Amino acid sequence: MTEAILLAGGKGTRLRPLTVHTPKPMVPAAGVPFLTHQLARARAAGVEHVVLATSYLAEVFEPHFGDGSELGLHLEYVTEEEPLGTGGAIRNAASRLTCAPGDPVLVFNGDILTGLDIRALVATHRSSGADVSLHLTRVTDPRAYGLVPTDGTGRVQAFLEKPRTPEEIVTDQINAGAYVFRRSVIDAVPAGRPVSVERETFPDLLAAGAHLQGMVDSTYWLDLGTPQAFVRGSADLVLGRAPSPAVPGRCGDRLVLPTATVASDAKLTGGTVVGGGARVGEGARVTGSAILAGAVIEPGAVVTDSLVGARARVGARSVLTGAVVGDGATVGPDNELRDGVRVWCDARIPAGALRFSSDA
Ligand code: GDD
Ligand code: MG
Repeated sequence: MTEAILLAGGKGTRLRPLTVHTPKPMVPAAGVPFLTHQLARARAAGVEHVVLATSYLAEVFEPHFGDGSELGLHLEYVTEEEPLGTGGAIRNAASRLTCAPGDPVLVFNGDILTGLDIRALVATHRSSGADVSLHLTRVTDPRAYGLVPTDGTGRVQAFLEKPRTPEEIVTDQINAGAYVFRRSVIDAVPAGRPVSVERETFPDLLAAGAHLQGMVDSTYWLDLGTPQAFVRGSADLVLGRAPSPAVPGRCGDRLVLPTATVASDAKLTGGTVVGGGARVGEGARVTGSAILAGAVIEPGAVVTDSLVGARARVGARSVLTGAVVGDGATVGPDNELRDGVRVWCDARIPAGALRFSSDA
């Protein structure tokens, strides 16, 4: 049975303030820490042993997931004192693998929501005889990713992480953040220092003539690295557009966790999730948004494509579109927040303080 390493140690800088108190993989999407979806998908593909490579806020993972038995997994945790980068983290976590040097090892970035056929990636790896196999996907703007041109047989020709010049943009195929490594390739990564798998390991392997195989797959794929993407991903999980066995309820227009209270005339649509203990007041309209545990949406508020953090409060008649409200923050009544605004954890915005329109 294939073992897996899950990279969960990044700082999640672009997701702040969601990642001030919570590491990115533990921010709830569709009612459960995002990582739960990835672990459940790996389990469904036959993976039984997962090593979590943690660093930033490492202490919160184990109290939540324990030994993994609730998910049918054997979970282990390896923590880097200083972040070792993606390659260093993989090398470090490999100390817990039990498989033989020639065996395949799955590696996942910890912020990817995808319908990837994990078994097919392993099968491609076996049949091509590659040293490393990579899930690739196509995007319209590849600049924020690792570019991976391949030849007609899918063999990788180059790996260009976050290209800076137009000449480097040679393809729209990108690294989708799931790999199969032959274990001996991981064991050859230098230990005890930071290594980037994207900037160092893959280019070095290619230069040495190693066989890297790409598998382009056009299934659902999203990197949840920004607040807008995170909110989208959560809504797609609720709607059932992004497949996960870990959504705690039936997929549909909304997901209300059992201990939440929603006024009978409030409207929840577009994949909105309302977390445990949260409250949505009379006449509120919430669309495509994530309302985390214990948050309060007061009467008449209109919340669209936004995330409201744990125990945060959105005041009556306030209008939020594409906003993120950090844990414990209060947006007073009659505010208007838009377009990527980030309200920091525990901040307090007085009533009627922020407007985009000129009307009273
Ligand atoms: N343990 C550990 N230690 N994990 C780390 C470290 C580290 O030092 N640095 C990053 N990670 C984890 C992150 O938590 C995340 O799960 C994963 O490694 C990738 O890091 P990101 O910070 O999300 O990278 P990115 O999104 O800019 O780029 C990566 O993903 C793209 C696809 O979404 C690269 O792999 C690109 O090549 C790829 O296209
Ligand atoms: Mg990422």
